[in-house]
Amino acid sequence: MQSHDVLIVGAGLAGMRAAVAIPSHLNVGIISKVHPVRSHSVAAEGGINAAVKPEDSWESHMYDTVKGSDWLGDQDGIEILCRFAPDDIMELERMGALFSRDPDGQISQRNFGGLGFPRTCYVADRTGHALVHLLYEQLMKRAAHVYEEWYVTSLVVEDGHCCGVIALNLFTGELSVIRAKAVILATGGYGRVYLISTNGLINTGDGMSMAYRAGLPLQDMEFVQFHPTTLKDSGILITEGARGEGGYLFNSRGERFMEKYAPNAMELACRDVVSRAEYQEIMEGRDVDGCVMLDLRHLGKAKIMERLPQIWELSLTYAGVDPVEAPIPIRPGVHYSMGGIRTNTRCETPMPGLYAAGECACISIHGANRLGGNALMETIVFGHRAGRYAAEYAESIKQIDFSDRVLEQDRERIASLMSRKNGERVVALRKEVGVIMMEHFGILRSRERMEEGKQRLKEVRSRLGNIYLQDRGKVFNLELIEALQLDSIMDLAEVIAAGACSREESRGAHSRTDFPDRNDQDWMKHTLAYQSDQGPRLDYTDVNITRIPPTERSY
Ligand code: FUM
Repeated sequence: MQSHDVLIVGAGLAGMRAAVAIPSHLNVGIISKVHPVRSHSVAAEGGINAAVKPEDSWESHMYDTVKGSDWLGDQDGIEILCRFAPDDIMELERMGALFSRDPDGQISQRNFGGLGFPRTCYVADRTGHALVHLLYEQLMKRAAHVYEEWYVTSLVVEDGHCCGVIALNLFTGELSVIRAKAVILATGGYGRVYLISTNGLINTGDGMSMAYRAGLPLQDMEFVQFHPTTLKDSGILITEGARGEGGYLFNSRGERFMEKYAPNAMELACRDVVSRAEYQEIMEGRDVDGCVMLDLRHLGKAKIMERLPQIWELSLTYAGVDPVEAPIPIRPGVHYSMGGIRTNTRCETPMPGLYAAGECACISIHGANRLGGNALMETIVFGHRAGRYAAEYAESIKQIDFSDRVLEQDRERIASLMSRKNGERVVALRKEVGVIMMEHFGILRSRERMEEGKQRLKEVRSRLGNIYLQDRGKVFNLELIEALQLDSIMDLAEVIAAGACSREESRGAHSRTDFPDRNDQDWMKHTLAYQSDQGPRLDYTDVNITRIPPTERSY
């Protein structure tokens, strides 16, 4: 049986940063369902926020983040993010990050939504790509054991402690136990719970679901971020950096409609505000074939090719539009999960031995709405902390013995899926869930629509037991993986639905037509969702306000 001091599940930026932070005398394993450089962090485009300039300060970064979160973010965590960010950027630099530069050699920073200062460091519009490859080099140097293309099916829990995982080797189809004194979940987000998303197909929220099934609370899952600029039809991300560099949004009448919704910040208001504005323009008929237009033409070819080369290429390839010559058709699309596994600022979950970092965790840095550029910084600052604290814990305990119970359960789960002779196909069911989430739990929500959506989800849940797999092979049985992922998707869809129905206010990305105002009196609190036989059971807990008292939020 394989055994590690610390085992990290997920090899995106948070997971790799955690691995690299663990002292070299400890035995580290890192396990991922894809090769590490194919993790979804590689798709991050526009940048990473840190107050690195003398004219800027971590306090301003903190203020912007708290305001962006619509006062649902926990301020102790936000303070850590903003204080550590500048040093962590320098650390990335020392590792070899090739940040874009100003003519005087300083790291360039661009504007992003909701920022009071251009604070987003970037590598053109391929920041995630650059950082993933950088950390992969560091991971190789660190000599961790990399389980490439292994799918983790469950956490192993004994006496309330996490002591390893069950994982399926995609090459062999064999299930094994991997023991660890500490486990870090860094499995990313769940964008693919929704049909159309900027997220890769791998983003099915497996880590969140695994933690939920192990009895841990998922926090604030009703807060789903819609990015304002995703490409027509495909939903591919068109970076906020495009507006940060000066891009305009127009409706079908040629109006810069953000004037109405955010007269000061205009296109650089927070994501929830811009997405809602676009949605309203589209719903009220001022759309261009279901979209609004992002115009970059006035930036000129030289700037577009220097700062936004990937956007130029994506737009040309996938929408047939050359942004130098014509505006890009865009609309809001699912992008990020503000919620996740409840985690404290040491990245500890409520279960001893289990840590979480990055998008799968909810510390909560982003509250009800995340600022663009803060997710990458969170992966670095809190990935680092997860590695450090998990290492300290692993050094302080002995490996706990455990039974084969979970391994047997997972074997049976897979055998039952593989044994059915007929039934429904996974892809069709997954699509149904995605459509329900788009139609009932989107940008604008109401009790009536959400209750209908819950009923539809219940009906799909009742059919999961009929799934039939055509592929009976062991080697790279991706249909089996799809079926296992669908369980995660279903769990998370139900949790999002439950939290959204219960929260009777509008805050950040959760916008209700029947409760249009923020209600601090009753709802300035975090939602906690626990698994139960009757579906998600909800509880609530306080928001941590340390420095910045709530006020009205406008842009
Ligand atoms: O628009 C973007 O480049 C996305 C950045 C982010 O989500 O932080």
